[in-house]
Amino acid sequence: MDDSVLDAIGSPLVRVDSPPGTTVAAKVESKNPGGSAKDRPAKAMVEAAEHEGLLEPGAHIVEPTSGNTGIGLAVVAAAKGYDLTVVMPASKSEERRNIMAAYGADLELVDGEMDSARERADELESQGMVQLRQFENPANARAHYETTAEEILEQIDGRSVDALVAAVGTGGTITGIGSRLREAFPEMEVVAVEPDTNAVLSTGEAGADDFEGMGPGFVSDVLDTDLLDTIETVSLDAAEDECRRLAEEEGILVGQSSGASNVVARRVADRLADDVSSGDTVDTDDPLVVTVFWDSGERYMSTGMFER
Ligand SMILES: Cc1ncc(COP(=O)(O)O)c(C=O)c1O
Repeated sequence: MDDSVLDAIGSPLVRVDSPPGTTVAAKVESKNPGGSAKDRPAKAMVEAAEHEGLLEPGAHIVEPTSGNTGIGLAVVAAAKGYDLTVVMPASKSEERRNIMAAYGADLELVDGEMDSARERADELESQGMVQLRQFENPANARAHYETTAEEILEQIDGRSVDALVAAVGTGGTITGIGSRLREAFPEMEVVAVEPDTNAVLSTGEAGADDFEGMGPGFVSDVLDTDLLDTIETVSLDAAEDECRRLAEEEGILVGQSSGASNVVARRVADRLADDVSSGDTVDTDDPLVVTVFWDSGERYMSTGMFER
């Protein structure tokens, strides 16, 4: 028995349909108590702030977030007894707002995009709330280094990982998992995924996109760009097609960033299979590509992406 819901954080690694001669495996993060990968950094950032004496009983946390981090923080705040205000653009999906409210968080909706949400959170911080700053907070990536990556190492049954493919929001997931797995597998390729119309890592220029959770439009402090070998882009249409395919053909219901990551994971697996058949690699196992499915498709129903 776990003492707290926060002790139940963890997720399975599941083999998904993979190109012949390869294995693509996804960390299905919707299995976390708050339904996304963001439970991990939420818990780690709160505990780091407690450790540093920034958060004391009765403290009020504030964070600008487009959704999953807000839900993760709402879970952690409820379980640990903190007040929480989440500031988010009014345009983001209503499921997320309802979930945060159910956990007792206060929501402040702002016009505009994340810039406006960040400004408002700074104002609330200056009035005494504690802001965790997921884009700058090292505990964000550390959570994935210490938990997500360690779970993957236990779940691959002694195989080696040839590539990690992950979408980038704050960059905490790809930085944390990538740096830990790189220690174990120095030859592993790290592939970042971003929206084709907002490809700041590939082009240096921000654009606009309708993905939730990836493509922040700037290079986050938390993202270790030195870890990245390749950056690939995906369109929202291709990502959503892949979400529908995963649901209908594999029984795995995920959101857009997961669909996008799986599109690229399959591309990378195809490429690694070609390398094997041309004798470019000495690895005798089938290539293993690990990716991440951040959240469930249930969080996207109001976007209409699963409507026929
Ligand atoms: C749905 C979704 N996908 C991908 C990401 C990207 O994760 P990270 O911020 O660790 O880069 C997030 C982060 O909030 C997310 O909510």
